[in-house]
Amino acid sequence: MAAALAVSLGAAIAGCVDKDAVFTDRPGLDQPTETTNNFLGYIGNAAEKQTSCANCHATFQAGWATTGHYEAWEDLGLEPGAQQDPECVGCHSVSELGNPLTEAAGYNLVADVRYTDVQCESCHGSGWDHVNNPNAANAPLCSIAAATDATTGCGECHSGAHQPFVEQWSLSAHANVGRASGRDGCNECHEGRKALERKFYDTSNYVEKGGTEVQPIVCAVCHDPHGSDFDANLRAPVDVAGDELPSTDHLCFRCHSRRGTPPSDHGSHAAQGLLVLQEDIGWIPAGFDAPDVGSHGNPAVNPTVCVKCHVVMYEITDAATGDREFRSVGHTFSAVVCLDAEGKPDPTLDCDDDERDYRSCTQGCHPSEAGAADLYKFLQTEINRRLDQLWVDSDGDGVVDPDDEGLIPQVVQRAFLNPADTLDLDPRDNLVTVAEGVFWNAQLAHTDGRPYFAGAIFYEGLAGPDESDPEDGIPDGIEWDSHKASGNGVHNPDFLTELLDASIDALIEFYELAP
Ligand code: HEC
Ligand code: HEC
Ligand code: HEC
Ligand code: HEC
Ligand code: HEC
Ligand code: HEC
Ligand code: HEC
Ligand code: HEC
Repeated sequence: MAAALAVSLGAAIAGCVDKDAVFTDRPGLDQPTETTNNFLGYIGNAAEKQTSCANCHATFQAGWATTGHYEAWEDLGLEPGAQQDPECVGCHSVSELGNPLTEAAGYNLVADVRYTDVQCESCHGSGWDHVNNPNAANAPLCSIAAATDATTGCGECHSGAHQPFVEQWSLSAHANVGRASGRDGCNECHEGRKALERKFYDTSNYVEKGGTEVQPIVCAVCHDPHGSDFDANLRAPVDVAGDELPSTDHLCFRCHSRRGTPPSDHGSHAAQGLLVLQEDIGWIPAGFDAPDVGSHGNPAVNPTVCVKCHVVMYEITDAATGDREFRSVGHTFSAVVCLDAEGKPDPTLDCDDDERDYRSCTQGCHPSEAGAADLYKFLQTEINRRLDQLWVDSDGDGVVDPDDEGLIPQVVQRAFLNPADTLDLDPRDNLVTVAEGVFWNAQLAHTDGRPYFAGAIFYEGLAGPDESDPEDGIPDGIEWDSHKASGNGVHNPDFLTELLDASIDALIEFYELAP
């Protein structure tokens, strides 16, 4: 059998993926010792860490060798010859974890050194058939799926109290994408497979690739399992210290940067990145002198930008014993998150600002959590005060009515009195009037305290035909749908408050309103 394998490998050279790969005479090209699932593991001297895939997929081997997976066994910190703790080994070796197997396999079955480390086969499954007769049809494709109850994928190892990545991720919006994930043009940010291809230019093959099932923004969208030049094997940098402003290279910016400026009959969309970095953002009133990019978006002050606030790792230890009780790995991706009854972050909960977790603000930046909380509340008050000058939804119907309080309703009133003015308020054309621009900015800045700005219905009763959805009673195109972008002001405090001030002035001046 060993001879047969060597012969078939020789015959396969022509079909090799990497033309530079050379077969050397390896005494280790031998039978698997784990014969239940036929994992191959390392070939030759295990200390050299040549996977059975390395000869042909040389670039993958080289990339993988730069990841922590390559050193997972050493990092267990075992003295040579020491007895391994069976509790530990499965996640630090080739085993049933990471691939579809569910019964003890690999190192968990045969404690052979060739199965140490998180190797190709951990994720791809046994390569035996493929290595014997290498072709695309029998290639051990990896799955990109992630779920807390999955018996395959990254989450099988990246889980539990010490590394609850999949648990936290599954609570995040990245794991729970909405309907946009099924639509062309939207899916490049809203669906995992399309995002891999369009945002990170990875056209690799994997189990789900040709399937119909929608994938959320899974681990492998952000992390390259075969290594990268960036922290944590991310597909784009998150530490952009030294970059010129703005640093649109940032991982999060790839998707959180769809639309920040008018015109559009929808407001801003995923504008967080644009706002933080102060790039192509907002309707700029004539003569507005924008402040310098704030410290939150300036890599010289905050090198990891979004990640500093949104991916926060910390441990909770037992005060008496010092034992680690829980580790948060920041994969809820929320900044000032609510905590559950056990003190764990849960972005699906709602709570008062006083009950939020401000740990993200203190890591070398704000001196205390209480101080950061006060600033957070103060900033929202400052923004809300300005938003109230523009529009208060007095009757709570979500419609900017002529008799609502604020400057924008005054413009609406005028439009009612003089239908010739209606153009001034209609977002369906490419003309951005002062009132539209100001409303855009208000939506951009809006906070949790003024949620009605997001889905505002503008100037109902004035618009034209209702063709798209006659049932809803809303004339076409006047729904100003926008997403929250300001992080309750935190995304760019000075810019937002100064932009609102300038917007208010511009509105008063242009329409000669009573302030
Ligand atoms: C003897 C050479 C050889 C070895 C060893 C080898 N492969 Fe392959 N592999 C190939 C060839 C040839 C293809 C087909 C390439 C093609 O058609 O584009 C392939 C394809 C693949 C593909 C699918 C790529 C695609 O585009 O569909 C995966 C995944 C893969 N191999 C994984 C592995 C893993 C994991 C191992 C180790 C367990 C391994 N291979 C070992 C030669 C090899
Ligand atoms: C068989 C278990 C296992 C599987 C499956 C697994 N990992 Fe890991 N991973 C580990 C272990 C163990 C470490 C710690 C390695 C070390 O540093 O000792 C680790 C480390 C990492 C790191 C830290 C960065 C680094 O290079 O050290 C990242 C990022 C990571 N894994 C991502 C992933 C992704 C993404 C997947 C799925 C595509 C995945 N892992 C699948 C066990 C696994
Ligand atoms: C459920 C799978 C799993 C089990 C079981 C497990 N680990 Fe890990 N271990 C991981 C993952 C995943 C990481 C990487 C986490 C990260 O990068 O944040 C890791 C990281 C580590 C590291 C840190 C490596 C570094 O980055 O320096 C050490 C040390 C470690 N594990 C030791 C152990 C020991 C000792 C045990 C047994 C008591 C154990 N592990 C059991 C999955 C596991
Ligand atoms: C932590 C899990 C993990 C490990 C370890 C891993 N891979 Fe992969 N591999 C994946 C995933 C996920 C994909 C599909 C998506 C992607 O490329 O990120 C993939 C895709 C591939 C492909 C398909 C490329 C194509 O163009 O279609 C090949 C070949 C491959 N891996 C080879 C290897 C080899 C060889 C090793 C070991 C040296 C290895 N992988 C280690 C998870 C892993
Ligand atoms: C939206 C992008 C994104 C997704 C999706 C994602 N991560 Fe991460 N991951 C990050 C960022 C950003 C970091 C932090 C890097 C840093 O701090 O430099 C990180 C860090 C890590 C680390 C290193 C932790 C350490 O101890 O330093 C591991 C391990 C990891 N992620 C695993 C996973 C796993 C497993 C999944 C899926 C359940 C996942 N990630 C999904 C962006 C992502
Ligand atoms: C591949 C695209 C993509 C990347 C990269 C990405 N995101 Fe997202 N993110 C999304 C999508 C899509 C949603 C909305 C999902 C939904 O609710 O349908 C989202 C939602 C979020 C939310 C929740 C928003 C809310 O209203 O609750 C936060 C916070 C977030 N992302 C932060 C980040 C951070 C921080 C990074 C970088 C580490 C990042 N994202 C990288 C696509 C991405
Ligand atoms: C450039 C990337 C990108 C594109 C393209 C994109 N989105 Fe989004 N979208 C995001 C991100 C990131 C979020 C999360 C942050 C936010 O809400 O602003 C989001 C949030 C959403 C939300 C709110 C969250 C939810 O699921 O309830 C909806 C609805 C939405 N997008 C619909 C769409 C539709 C429909 C399209 C296509 C017409 C689309 N998006 C195209 C990046 C994008
Ligand atoms: C200085 C800290 C900080 C930085 C830097 C930061 N955020 Fe935020 N972000 C927050 C806070 C605070 C909130 C509001 C509270 C919450 O939703 O948890 C928030 C909210 C969000 C939301 C939810 C929707 C919204 O806009 O309110 C998304 C999505 C988001 N941020 C993405 C990003 C992205 C992408 C970056 C990087 C371009 C980034 N954030 C940079 C602190 C920050």
